[in-house]
Amino acid sequence: MKKLGVAVVGTGFWGKNHARVYKELESTELVAICDRDAQRAKAIASQLGVKAYTNSSKMLKNKEIEAVSICTWSTSLAKEAMKALGAGKHVLVEKPMATTTKQAENLVAAAEENGLHFTVGFLMRFIPGLRHIRESVESKQKIGDLVCATAKRVSQWPERIGDVGVVKDTAIHDIDVMRFVFGEDPIAVYAKAGCMRHRMFEDYALIMLAFPGEKSALVESNWLTPYKTRTLTVTGSDAIMRLDYITQELWIEAAAENIQPKFPWQEPLKAELQHFADCVTKKVEPVVRGADGVKALSIAIAALKSSAKNRAIKL
Ligand SMILES: NC(=O)c1ccc[n+]([C@@H]2O[C@H](COP(=O)([O-])OP(=O)(O)OC[C@H]3O[C@@H](n4cnc5c(N)ncnc54)[C@H](O)[C@@H]3O)[C@@H](O)[C@H]2O)c1
Repeated sequence: MKKLGVAVVGTGFWGKNHARVYKELESTELVAICDRDAQRAKAIASQLGVKAYTNSSKMLKNKEIEAVSICTWSTSLAKEAMKALGAGKHVLVEKPMATTTKQAENLVAAAEENGLHFTVGFLMRFIPGLRHIRESVESKQKIGDLVCATAKRVSQWPERIGDVGVVKDTAIHDIDVMRFVFGEDPIAVYAKAGCMRHRMFEDYALIMLAFPGEKSALVESNWLTPYKTRTLTVTGSDAIMRLDYITQELWIEAAAENIQPKFPWQEPLKAELQHFADCVTKKVEPVVRGADGVKALSIAIAALKSSAKNRAIKL
């Protein structure tokens, strides 16, 4: 079967992993990479044996490229994604996808108009334990009725990130996770955020999301904790489910017994990019739609507004 021709725009900390995984997957052919930093572009391209570009417009003229990952700085994602869609390429854009909700909506509309597949890099959805939690919530098996959930995503400030704060960069993962686990959208958000070390943006935030029927979720994110924690706890009427995203371990704790279902460890990015390729070539049902990105971004923006105005915001 013909491989899907792919390229990556932005090959910094994260984009170089996209490029490596595309090279490893059997169903994709990494055609080229682009980074505005010429030295970086050259180094990654020669490591992977592909062509290097510093200008994405030039690269996108290559007809062998059918799909593109956009992994540039958060504030240039929307512009680069729009360029790729304009050139007729299927797009996976990293989170937070855009700076404003309007930009994000324009991307979804452009993809629809051109009949292109368009998705957002919500990597957590490709961790098997999270999918197990979602299935349990949906079927009520083991967990019973969903009550609430809490997420913690804390670490030191990755200093290369200078164009957005912890809400749009980090908490947005958990905002998307909560929408995914609850299977519906929150109806209100109340948040408190602030900055301690970061000069321009918030580096800590607590975000409370209210869901229909008295259900709620709490998202804690910061760039101040000296160690890295990424966890999710989901409370149901019959059991608690706890997931560690780093080890991918899942614990189900009920009054009668504690169980720890085992899933074979898999690199989430590999699962995500394989799925992206399958969506394009086999038209499989997408796990993440552009609209999910728009929604998560709009909730993140509302959380920042809530913190600034010191009041809950209806969504
Ligand atoms: N889904 C995830 O789990 C996850 C994890 C890490 C980062 N990310 C996202 O990936 C993106 C990149 O993050 P990072 O940590 O790799 O940042 P980074 O600063 O390490 O890399 C960004 C790269 O993009 C290049 N770049 C910027 N604008 C460009 C443009 N217009 N054209 C070509 N190259 C350009 C820069 O030179 C740099 O090499 C961010 O949007 C971030 O939110 C997602």
